Amino acid sequence: MTTALKTENLTITYTGKREVTALNDVSVEFNENELTAIIGPSGCGKSTLMKSLNRLHEIQPNVDISGEVYLGTQPIYATDEPLPEIRRRVGYVPQKPTALPLSIYNNVAYGLKIHGNHSKAELDKLVKKYLQKVNLWEEVNDRLDAPGAELSTGQLQRLCLARSLAVEPDVLLCDEVTSALDPISAESVEETLKELKEEYTIVMITHSMNQAKRLADKVVFLYLGNLVEANDVNQFFEKPESERTKQFISGQGVVGEDESSDEEKQPATTAAQVL
Ligand SMILES: Nc1ncnc2c1ncn2[C@@H]1O[C@H](COP(=O)(O)OP(=O)(O)O)[C@@H](O)[C@H]1O
Ligand SMILES: [Mg+2]
Repeated sequence: MTTALKTENLTITYTGKREVTALNDVSVEFNENELTAIIGPSGCGKSTLMKSLNRLHEIQPNVDISGEVYLGTQPIYATDEPLPEIRRRVGYVPQKPTALPLSIYNNVAYGLKIHGNHSKAELDKLVKKYLQKVNLWEEVNDRLDAPGAELSTGQLQRLCLARSLAVEPDVLLCDEVTSALDPISAESVEETLKELKEEYTIVMITHSMNQAKRLADKVVFLYLGNLVEANDVNQFFEKPESERTKQFISGQGVVGEDESSDEEKQPATTAAQVL
């Protein structure tokens, strides 16, 4: 198993009015061509961890980061590599899909135009390739010039995936990418992720235990900024090592969870309630 990405002793503190250590000495590995799900109650540091993986914190002040993140063997903090290149290699797909104010075609071609020097024919080919990869080509090939914003949210989320893939990242970060979608759209995005993980390293935050079971190869469980357990998905759900994991798994995802729906339940415990 090759490690595509890993954190080493990563500690992240928000140093605003109220100082919050959102991640505490977290060392975790993400394997190549696997999907790793990050789970845990609200406020436990999931988004903070994900943002650290492509240095997304640098767009806001008052964040202290110590430790390191390695892409392969290369550090992404202590490096001379330009930030846009790091962000190209580690793509980020947000929770709420948003189209650039461009056509469907140009939403996908956007990054290709920035990062490369392709002829029109090459661009056409690549746009088709990435729309096919996210199972959107059949639905939009007759209206590539229409605004991206015209698509349904489910289609839009797949368009965002295509846009991220077009710049050929090594890793794809997906922050609850199905939670804003209706169940049918969520299912189509899940199907797409299932196919993509054969070819890409994917790190996904989810609130749904069932989604983690359906999609993940590995599960990382955070609690109050600490890494509690990171394990193979079957081991994680069937033979959890930590009491905390057992409690979390049994407290959520059993009672009344509807397999056919991706309606996200808020976790019973939030950091705010515990602190
Ligand atoms: N920009 C910020 N400034 C200050 N505190 C923050 C900021 N972002 C997150 N936090 C705090 O850090 C902790 C972890 O947040 P977050 O990573 O968003 O958790 P999760 O994604 O698991 O819900 C929480 O206590 C949250 O309130
Ligand atoms: Mg979050």
